[in-house]
Amino acid sequence: MADDYNMPVGELMKGKRGIITGVANHQSIAWGIASQLAAQGAEMAFFHLPGMERRVRPLAEGVGARVIEAVDVTDDASMDAGFAAVGSAFGKIDFFVHALAFAPRDQIKGSFVENATREGFRTAMDISAYSFVDCARRASHMMPDGGSLITLTYLGSERAIPNYNTMGVAKAALHCPGPRAPGHPGQRHFRGRHAHPVPCGYFRRPVHAGPGPGPVRPQGGYQHGGRGRSRPLATVGPWPVHHG
Ligand SMILES: NC(=O)c1ccc[n+]([C@@H]2O[C@H](COP(=O)([O-])OP(=O)(O)OC[C@H]3O[C@@H](n4cnc5c(N)ncnc54)[C@H](O)[C@@H]3O)[C@@H](O)[C@H]2O)c1
Repeated sequence: MADDYNMPVGELMKGKRGIITGVANHQSIAWGIASQLAAQGAEMAFFHLPGMERRVRPLAEGVGARVIEAVDVTDDASMDAGFAAVGSAFGKIDFFVHALAFAPRDQIKGSFVENATREGFRTAMDISAYSFVDCARRASHMMPDGGSLITLTYLGSERAIPNYNTMGVAKAALHCPGPRAPGHPGQRHFRGRHAHPVPCGYFRRPVHAGPGPGPVRPQGGYQHGGRGRSRPLATVGPWPVHHG
């Protein structure tokens, strides 16, 4: 399955090990990233949302994943178990890919101010922003030789894009940990570990095409997608290797 998206094959990531989060199915951006890392020789552990194993396991096994763990980022015990499993299998890691986010459906359509609820806002911030801080801390402890932390953001963190709403605020919060994360000035004791919020263009996902009275995908102002068109997943190719 690693050649699903015809990623360039090589040895740029040979000997590197890391954790991939956020694969739900073969259309996930995380799967594009994992495909490229596998094609360049990386060894990977996969964390998937509990309940997603039926779809994720065949993909992960197809790229020789050493660890496949159900990890809910809102559950500390689940995070402890996932990172412990990677620690046992790999000892140390070189990269961590944070490719996950969530906001309740009613928080990503219509009027931001009218529809934002305390619980919806809290959920979006917890899963989409705080989880990166938590993952960065745990992953950096497994990077004694330095490493790379990647998370995915979107133009909706900087501009008001219709329907992006609460997710845009969560993405804006996600930008903030970057300069404060391991490896940046002010965090010198973590030198050698780098955090990269990668701004993606628009990738059409099934959730954007779901049932409902109107479109719930973000509209207009696409950074790379070109006039609202979705990018092909194969275009993630260079990111993980460049930042890895
Ligand atoms: N699709 C786009 O156009 C686009 C553009 C820019 C950035 N992004 C970002 O890229 C990342 C991946 O999104 P995607 O488009 O591939 O969608 P996706 O639905 O495939 O990925 C989201 C992932 O988050 C996981 N997840 C949700 N709640 C979780 C939890 N509590 N614990 C663990 N995992 C959880 C889901 O299982 C899923 O695998 C997200 O951060 C998204 O905001 C997407």
